[in-house]
Amino acid sequence: MRLSLSNRLALVFSAITLLAVGGLYLYVAPGLQTRLLSEKLHQLATAAKADSAPIVDTVGATDLASVVSARVERAALMSGDRVTLLSVNEAPGGAQLPPVADSSNPAATGELSFPVAYRAAANGQPATGMESAKSGEVAEAASPVSFAGHLAAVIVYSAPVSDVLHSVAIVHHEILVAGAVALLLALVGGYLTANAVAQRVKRLERAAEEVAAGNFNHPIAVDSTDELGQLAVAFNAMQRQLAQLELARKKFIATASHELRTPIFSLGGFVELLEDEDLDLETRQRFLEQVKQQVERLRKLSVDLLDLSRLESGSLELREEEVDLGELTRSVSGEFEPTLHQHDSHLELRLAARRIDAQCDPVRIAQIMRILIDNALTHTPAGTRIVVTAARNDGRVRLAVRDDGEGIDRDALPRIFEPFFTADDAQGSGLGLAIASELADRMSGRLSVNSAPGETVFTLEIPA
Ligand SMILES: Nc1ncnc2c1ncn2[C@@H]1O[C@H](COP(=O)(O)OP(=O)(O)O)[C@@H](O)[C@H]1O
Ligand SMILES: [Mg+2]
Repeated sequence: MRLSLSNRLALVFSAITLLAVGGLYLYVAPGLQTRLLSEKLHQLATAAKADSAPIVDTVGATDLASVVSARVERAALMSGDRVTLLSVNEAPGGAQLPPVADSSNPAATGELSFPVAYRAAANGQPATGMESAKSGEVAEAASPVSFAGHLAAVIVYSAPVSDVLHSVAIVHHEILVAGAVALLLALVGGYLTANAVAQRVKRLERAAEEVAAGNFNHPIAVDSTDELGQLAVAFNAMQRQLAQLELARKKFIATASHELRTPIFSLGGFVELLEDEDLDLETRQRFLEQVKQQVERLRKLSVDLLDLSRLESGSLELREEEVDLGELTRSVSGEFEPTLHQHDSHLELRLAARRIDAQCDPVRIAQIMRILIDNALTHTPAGTRIVVTAARNDGRVRLAVRDDGEGIDRDALPRIFEPFFTADDAQGSGLGLAIASELADRMSGRLSVNSAPGETVFTLEIPA
């Protein structure tokens, strides 16, 4: 059988309470009775020994019976106990102990047989003990008295202990009642507490199911600062993040399909136009040029999309080899010679005098450099100066592309590394910097930007 959290907790609470009450009932209460009784016996024994001198004096003396009785009465009054003087008559079957004087009503004397007095007489030592009388338990302490080298009498102090036993019984009863109440409280309290916790856990469970079903819009109410409250906070944070990821994913797909659709539509249009047989050669040539451009745009877009998805899924393999980054920078810059010419721009290379050797993937470094130089050309006015530098610094290699264009808009700056983000109408797909920064991450490096009107610098830092 599977017990619910509430039932289990209620059971544990009850078991603990039961154990505590049982311990009180079975150990503390009987102990209390023993302690109280032995205290009473000790008190009687002390009185019998210390306060009985006037009675002891009468033993063996020739006092009148009334004098002896008066002394016994006095002793009883002083201690508050019943005092009995027994004389010791040696007999063949054992000593006989007839009472000589008794502080209580003589009619009641017969009720007690004083077994402790016989023990004291037999051993010649004080003795204490209990006797069951008709009226209840009686505690007794006997003190033997010798005269002329013989045991002559025994003085017995006795007191009923029914009040002690009664008090202990009350304590017993109260433990039972309090125990029953505590048990009930433990059961109900345990159940209610656990039930409240279970309810809150249930809420979390339901929320988790919502998230599993792809529904991210139901944050859990955070009702306390305890562990479950913190779990709810963490859960809500996770939900927000998932929602963001989901949003980003949807946006990515929407933008990607839009980006793909535009050149495909345009291609379709040109192909239709080209079907017209009456086209003159020049127009046909122009349309074909457009077709070529759109195909090139599609090719680039598909390569970029593939790269980005491989980078994000972590399946892009990087090849590590010893590379001279100065040489690499020079050769990539060289590729831009024709474009620079068209753009009326000038590219300046500033390389360290020594070789800049590093362990890295040359293909991917070149890809990043191409993205940066291409941006410095396409997002700047004609005639822009571009400076490409490569240097080693503190165990890191820094490759930087600087241009003196108009700079990146302050609002756009934080977003330029997002996929598909473009801040101007230069017809780019907005994937370049996203790919470049993902690549830099994969190389344990960093791509950073610094831009102000008149100067934009992209810096790639990689460990070397
Ligand atoms: N050197 C630069 N000068 C000005 N703006 C830049 C520069 N480099 C990047 N940008 C801005 O960052 C945006 C994102 O760049 P990128 O990811 O390469 O996409 P794309 O070049 O396809 O537009 C560009 O649209 C442009 O607005
Ligand atoms: Mg670009």
